[in-house]
Formats: sequence, C-alpha cells, structure tokens
Amino acid sequence: MVVVAFETSCDETSVAVVREGRVLANVVSSQIRLHADYGGVVPELATREHLRNLPHVARRALEAAALAPAAVDAVAATRGPGLPNALMIGLRAAQGMAFALGKPFVAIHHHEAHLYSPWIGGTPPRAAFDAFEPNVSLIVSGGHTLLVHVPRLLEHRVLGSTLDDAAGECFDKTGKLLGLGYPAGPEIDRLARAGNPRAHAFPRPMLQEPGYDFSFSGLKTSVRYFLEKRPGGAPTTAELQDLCASVQAAIVETLVEKTLRAAAACHVRCVTASGGVSCNQGLREALARACRRRGLGLRLANAAFCTDNAAMIGVLAELKLARGQPPSPLDSDVAPNWALEDLAAPAQ
Ligand code: KG4
Ligand code: ZN
Repeated sequence: MVVVAFETSCDETSVAVVREGRVLANVVSSQIRLHADYGGVVPELATREHLRNLPHVARRALEAAALAPAAVDAVAATRGPGLPNALMIGLRAAQGMAFALGKPFVAIHHHEAHLYSPWIGGTPPRAAFDAFEPNVSLIVSGGHTLLVHVPRLLEHRVLGSTLDDAAGECFDKTGKLLGLGYPAGPEIDRLARAGNPRAHAFPRPMLQEPGYDFSFSGLKTSVRYFLEKRPGGAPTTAELQDLCASVQAAIVETLVEKTLRAAAACHVRCVTASGGVSCNQGLREALARACRRRGLGLRLANAAFCTDNAAMIGVLAELKLARGQPPSPLDSDVAPNWALEDLAAPAQ
C-alpha cells in the first residue's frame, strides 16, 4: 500500500510518501527561523507559510518517491491537535487529493503518530512495525509532555501529562531568561555539555508525587528567582554552561525517573521517546543509562522523525488501514484541542 501524508499542525510543513511501513520520501520545511524573531510560533505567520510552502513540499515529496498519482492507495493528514488554521491547510489539501484520486482519506491524531515514530527508519530502512514491542512512550515537544502505555499496536493508555508548561516550553522559557534565542532547547543542550549539572540544585518538579503527571512552570520560576538574586551583570560563559547543565539535569531527571517508573508499573520491557526534546543529548544519554541499568530496551526516534514530520502520519495511516480500520469522512474537520485520551478505541 502507498500512502501520501500531510502534516501542518504547527510550524513544520511536511509531506511524506510511505509504502509497506517504509519511508519513500519525507520532505520537511521548517519555519523555525521565521518565528525566532518573535520568541515563539506566531499562528498567522505559520498559516501563511504553510499555504506558501505546501505545494512545493508536496511536489518534492512525490518526485523524490518517483510516484505516479495512480500508484497512491490512500491519503492521510494530521487532524489535531495543533493550530486551527495551520491544521486546516494540510487536512484540506489531503482531502482534496483523496477526492481527486478517488482514494480513501485517513485523519490522524498527531500524538498517536508520535507514539510510532521511534519505530520508523533504520539502516537499511525496515518496515516500521516489524520489531514492535509493548512499551511506555515519552512524547516531549514544545507543546506537549505525555507518558503513554502502548501495550499493542493501535492501543494506548495515557498515563500522565504536563499540568502546565511542556518540557520544550520549559527549555525555551528558561533559555529566554538566560538571554538565549528561540528555540533555546538546542542551545541549552549545547552549553550544558561543558557545564556542571550539580552546580545549582533546581527543583525536580513532581518527582516526589505519585502518578505520572509533570509540572515544569516552577522550575522556570526558580531560575528567575536565582537570576534576580544573583549580583552582577550578564553571566559569564562558564556560569551559563553550569546554569544550562543544572536546568537540563532537573528536566531530564524528572522525565527519565517518571518514564522508568511507568515502565516498571506497566510491566513493559521497552521504552520509546519522540518529539523535539527527545533530540536532547542529555536526555538520550540518561534514558540509555537508565534503561541499560534496568535491562530495558530503548527506542529513540531518529533525528529526522523526532520533530514533526509527515512520515509518522503516513505509517500510522497505513497501519490503520491494513488492520481494517475504516477511512475517515472526506469532510472531517480539524480538531485543534483533540486529547489523546479522547481518541476513539479502534475497531477490533
Ligand atoms: O517537536 P517540536 O519540533 O515541535 C513542537 O513543539 O511540536 O519541538 C520543539 C521543541 C522546542 O521547545 C525546542 O526547544 C525543543 O523541542 N528542542 C530541544 C532540543 N531540540 C529541540 N530541547 C532540548 N534539547 C534539544 N536538543
Ligand atoms: Zn509533534
């Protein structure tokens, strides 16, 4: 089966072509530089950029996959959650393509797709789900922090989420306090490598609480108080490195500890991670160490599939159709606030 997929939920315009769980093309046009001047994603600008870029991104994806329109078996798109008008552009484009080709359309939940992105890719590329194992999946991005139990393909249970800021938002907001540009996550990651993670004892939010929810807004506040009390001008590079290492350690330790607790409670032998923050080297290393200590398998999304991409939308749509789930209505609307908990249980 060949699926063409569209993803435009936030600030990445992406179109992919997948066949039998393998990615034939995954073109991503990031708007990150456009939004950097504003310190965050500006919805109106994102909408305009998606409109401008989508035709080119789609053409490049179809050319890269060397695919004639007649070879397409289904068309998929992200329905939510995300920015309403941004979602609308990818969804309507996909529905239009499905209508024109007379092929089924599949509407996909963005976070359900993230659950499967760690299974995509590999060298040589293998079918996405050949190696699937029951797992606990950590989704960490600028908009979301979710821990999910995935006992079987197409089944999941949300264990916890953030009560306030997402992990990426915490990186970005603390980075702003430290004078770093947007998005600050990659820069904190880079500076942290030369810093001392024990230099400052920032709080490990909710670590003492039972359950799997997260809260990161207190960490940002405690960094602000620290900077307000600190005498002198701008921090030196060495101070900045220690601050970044200490902030990152607080975020990473919280994420890793809760993820490993969830894996034990759910009796799974595998942990996965995806979303922009899962690019963080400190997080990847800490997860690897913790999983090794407990004898758990770890699947981290490849860099290309950590951040938003249409390949994960396509492989999930293909899986759903292959497992007999019905296509979605051609007039299904965007669902900007769609919670993963509200995703209807699959037909058996
Ligand atoms: O998944 P993503 O590209 O977009 C959405 O939020 O949907 O994630 C972007 C987030 C930003 O907050 C960014 O600072 C963070 O991921 N991020 C990182 C790293 N790379 C991206 N955070 C920490 N370390 C990184 N290396
Ligand atoms: Zn995402």
